Formats: sequence, structure tokens, C-alpha cells
Amino acid sequence: MTTQTTHTERQQPTPPRRSFLKTVWAFLGLMAAGEFLWIASGFLRPGKKTSQAAPSDMLIVAGKLEDFPMGSVTAFVRGRFYLSRLEDGGVLAISRKCTHLGCTVPWDDEEKKFICPCHASAFDRAGGVISPPAPRPLDIHPVTIENGVITVDTSRTIRRNVLDPSQIAYA
Ligand code: FES
Repeated sequence: MTTQTTHTERQQPTPPRRSFLKTVWAFLGLMAAGEFLWIASGFLRPGKKTSQAAPSDMLIVAGKLEDFPMGSVTAFVRGRFYLSRLEDGGVLAISRKCTHLGCTVPWDDEEKKFICPCHASAFDRAGGVISPPAPRPLDIHPVTIENGVITVDTSRTIRRNVLDPSQIAYA
């Protein structure tokens, strides 16, 4: 009887140790929850505003027109846009920000469309809505083509409610 009691007593952690472990687990749980919330909010947050950058930093020389084949979509990390060269040779600089809730929209080269990972809105290569919930086309940035060189002004974002041929830049 005495031996059993002693054995049971050895298996029980002392109260201060148990309390310390509870505190550590609670702290780790809070850290994990905080990190999860931070990552989740970052996923839904639109990209950082670039308004603090100098205007010259926001004028991006994308390259020569001939370097972008008809029907190609090229991602630009700097400026956070896609350069879409349409089948008729026109050029659009399309924002990566979804017009539903602002998630970053990747180009799916196999499907030949932009597909938002958040709620599955899809857009064609001109940024037009193929499937909702996105309420309108992807925004664009002004494009100029001079001497065969494409320049994108990322300091300005053009909100589109419909697709219009006047939005497309030609050489
Ligand atoms: S944020 Fe893109 S579909 Fe909702």
C-alpha cells in the first residue's frame, strides 16, 4: 500500500512544474495563432502601396515590343503587373490585384487565364472577367510605346468597369 502511493506520487508532476508547462504551452499556442493570423491577413492584403516611391521608380521600361510574342503574358515583380501582348499586337499592363477582395492573381499559362486563388474568379488575358465573384475587369496601368520600347507607368492605376479598345496600347 505504501509502495503504491509512492509510485503514484512519482508520476504526478509537481504543481510548479505543471504550471510552468501550461504557461509555456499557452505561450506557444498564442505565438502559433498570431503567426497564422499574420500570414492569413497578408494573403488577403493587397500589395504595399508604392506611393512612397519616387515617380521615376514607378516608370518601368518593360522592354522592346518585339521581345513579347503575340498572346504572351509576362509577370513583372517590380510594379506588380503583367504585360499582356494580345493576339492583335496590342499591349496591356494588368494589375495583379483581384477586383474582388484584392488577392494577388496568378496567370495560369495552361488554362490561358488569370485565376484568383482566393475565391476562384477568372479573367482572360485582357483582364476581363470570365467568372465571378470579381465584379469588374482587372485594373491596368498606362502604357506608352515609343521607338518600339514599352514603358509602364505604375504610379497610375486605371479602374475599369468594362473592357474598352481604347485601353489597349499599340505601336
Ligand atoms: S479575392 Fe479574388 S476572387 Fe475573391
